[in-house]
Formats: sequence, C-alpha cells, structure tokens
Amino acid sequence: MDFTSRAIAYCRPGFEKDLAAEFAARCAKSGVAGHSLATPDSGFVLHEFDAPLEEAQRVVSYDHLIFARQLVWVRESLEDLPEKDRLTPILAAINRVHGRFGRVWAETADTNEAKTLSSFLKRFMPHLERALHEGRRLVDRNDAPNLHLFFIDSSHVFICTSDPANASPWPMGIARLRMPREAPSRSTLKLAEAFFGLLSEDERNSSLRAGLRAVDLGAAPGGWTWQFVSRGLLVTAVDNGPMSESVRATGLVEHVRADGFVWKPSKPVEWMVCDMVEQPSRVAQLVAEWVASGRCRRSMFNLKLPMKKRHDAIEQARNLIYKRMSVSGRDWTLRFKHLYHDREEVTGYLASIKHG
Ligand SMILES: C[S@@+](CC[C@H](N)C(=O)[O-])C[C@H]1O[C@@H](n2cnc3c(N)ncnc32)[C@H](O)[C@@H]1O
Repeated sequence: MDFTSRAIAYCRPGFEKDLAAEFAARCAKSGVAGHSLATPDSGFVLHEFDAPLEEAQRVVSYDHLIFARQLVWVRESLEDLPEKDRLTPILAAINRVHGRFGRVWAETADTNEAKTLSSFLKRFMPHLERALHEGRRLVDRNDAPNLHLFFIDSSHVFICTSDPANASPWPMGIARLRMPREAPSRSTLKLAEAFFGLLSEDERNSSLRAGLRAVDLGAAPGGWTWQFVSRGLLVTAVDNGPMSESVRATGLVEHVRADGFVWKPSKPVEWMVCDMVEQPSRVAQLVAEWVASGRCRRSMFNLKLPMKKRHDAIEQARNLIYKRMSVSGRDWTLRFKHLYHDREEVTGYLASIKHG
C-alpha cells in the first residue's frame, strides 16, 4: 500500500501561492503532513500528502479550495514519453488504473507555454479515445470518474482521476460560456458562471424562477441584471450610473439611483447581488446584514482582493459574515470560488437555509 498520494489543482496563473496556502490550511486542520510544489505562474499546484489516497480525499475536496479551478488525483506519472509513440505507454498506465470512466480530458495548465500543446492534443486525443472505447474503459454514466491527462509538456503527463460530484464539470476547470448577444457587459458571464459553479441544480431551479425578485447593487450597465431578467425574474437595479437599453426594454427592471450601501427593499426578496467595487470587509458586512435580517434569502457577491494576502482578506470577510450570521438565529451556508471569469476577486454565495 502506498502511504503518500498526490493531487493537482489547476488555477489562474499567479494564484499558486494562494492555492498552496489553502492546501496547507486543510492539511493542518486534519493533522496530515505534506507539501506543495507551487511554481509561480505555472497555473497549477501539485500537493503531496503523507497519507494514502482515501485519507487525502477526505482532507481536501474541490469545494474546499477557493482558488482551485479543478482538483484531480494523480494515479500515474509518465516522463520521457517517446516522441514516436506516446499512446502505448499512456494506455499501459491507464490500464493500471481500475474502473471505467465517464469522460476523458486531455488538459494543460492555462498558460501560454502550455497552450502550445493544443494542436498536439487535438491530434492525439482521437487515437486515445478510440483505444479506450475498444478496451471498454468508457461508460455512459454521469457518476463515473473523470479521467484527466494533465500534460506538463508533450513528453510528461500525469494520469489523474476526479469524482464528478466533487470536481468542476468543465475541461481544465474553465467555464466556456457563450457571451449572450443581448447582454450589456461581459461581466454577465461572471454571474452566469457563479450560478453553475456555486449553486446545486436544485438551488438553481428553485431560486432562478420567473416572478421571483432580485436586487442588483452596483448594477450598471446591467450584465448581472440581464442574467435575472433573461430568466423572468423582476430586478431592482441600484446604481447612479445608466442602465443599458437592452435590459430596460425587458420591462422587468426598476432602476433606482441610490447608494447601494444605504438603499433597502420594502419587502424581502429572493436575491441580492453585489458587484460594487469596495473594500471586501465592507461588502461582507453588507451582504451578511441583508441575509441575517431576512432582506434577501440569498446573495451572490464579488470580493475584490488585495494583490497580497488574498487568503487573509477572504478569511477576514468570512469571519465578519460568521459573526453577523451566528446571531441571526438562521441556518446558513457560505461558499467562495475564484471563478474563471474572476481576476483579482473571488465570488461568494451566502444563503439562509430553510428546513422542511
Ligand atoms: C463593476 S461595475 C458593475 C457591473 C455590473 N455588475 C454589470 O454586470 O454590468 C460596478 C458598479 O457599481 C456602481 N457602484 C459603486 N459604488 C456604488 C454605490 N455605493 N452605490 C451604488 N452603485 C455603486 C458603479 O457605479 C458601477 O456601475
């Protein structure tokens, strides 16, 4: 039995230190030793645990790691792949991994250097997929493990698996969303990704229904508002700036020119979202106040992070939210993720939970 195990988490290049700090925090909490290889701007962190795979998988999950776009578990590592036939050793390595796979992805880090491999991968993948089909290693089931081939370069690959219930559903953890033609700003993609990345399917179905009410603080020009109105929700858009004609034309938007830190709704609403550029601690307090006091049931919000000590800024926001929510008498959930469409910010989700 192997008493060490390795995970690879993909991230936006430049955030490796933050991701490694998260691995270290999870391991410290569980008393599991280990160390990270986190090369600056590499776009991934490799963490070695002094624990077998099953134990390491209990210590760290995809949801725990805010800065991870994807989390995969290393099963085999191949270096010095022969240029003339990479397929044979890769298939032999995959054959040493038990079970069948729901999906197979050839991946690299999200760096310019790694992207130069993309034409090689396009040529290589059909051969691999055909061989896996012939070997009956693929199965048409959503809950079957994902198989990831994470290429460092064309001669070095990690063969990894992930549990679809505990992983990003997108190749390379990158949410490739189509920019809706009518949406007024690209930041619409951020909220679209947050709905998929931070909510369960049940939560999406119950909270994004036509007729429910949403408040958008810092709404102009209306990319986030558009995500709601395109699903038939009614939006109060709070911003001193102008809202775009495309969202106003839906007839589902009331534009209020006011300070988002002061304005309050007359009745409770399902959603409050906040994209105002402000101190993370100020946004955290505002969001906690809305959910704790029952002004809204759920909130999606952006925390703009400082260049350094990003992890600390999130922890400070988390503590402020914890402090306010713990005296609210409500059950609640708080999640954060550094989404593909986030740059120097993370997206948070805070909601009160109803029972029964
Ligand atoms: C990043 S933009 C929002 C973009 C918007 N989410 C979208 O998708 O189009 C931030 C907005 O917050 C607004 N804002 C900043 N501080 C505010 C405040 N105290 N009250 C209301 N709006 C504010 C700005 O006017 C700006 O329009």
